[in-house]
Amino acid sequence: MKDKQLSVSAIREGTVIDHIPASVLFKVVSILNLDKLDTMITIGNSLGSKKLGKKGIIKLSEVFFQDNDINKIALVAPSAKLNIIRNYEVVEKRVVAIPDVIVDIVKCVNPKCITNNEEVSTKFDVVSKSEVKLKCHYCEKITNQDNIEII
Ligand code: CTP
Ligand code: ZN
Repeated sequence: MKDKQLSVSAIREGTVIDHIPASVLFKVVSILNLDKLDTMITIGNSLGSKKLGKKGIIKLSEVFFQDNDINKIALVAPSAKLNIIRNYEVVEKRVVAIPDVIVDIVKCVNPKCITNNEEVSTKFDVVSKSEVKLKCHYCEKITNQDNIEII
């Protein structure tokens, strides 16, 4: 890191979510409910990246998520990488993976579904991960990558 200039300051302890495509950065913020946190958060958008063109980055000081919390973001940002920071050093890198069941963060594509008409949380079985296909637990309709809508 000696000769590198960081576009956003380094953090001492916490989690850095890196390599988020710029176009979905704020979806990731919303999926993780970051507005509910009162710890230090730095967000950088449209930073240059060789791999993604433009990338977003989220740095969460003092926050260490459970895997299943963070894995939800794989729905919109499968390229995201998690870096766990302890005493300024990256001590662990993780890739995100789509969970087998998705609760609450995606809207069912079927307008007649009970989840679109009553106070019922959505729930899906993930039937395909490479090209995302989510089967609604209630109406069995498939919500896929093209029509996925994050609540
Ligand atoms: N980082 C940070 N605070 C630290 C250490 C690292 O915010 N104390 C950030 C870096 O800015 C970078 C990410 O954590 O965005 C990963 O750091 P590092 O592994 O050093 O960077 P790269 O080698 O570029 O990682 P990758 O190959 O995943 O791009
Ligand atoms: Zn449904």
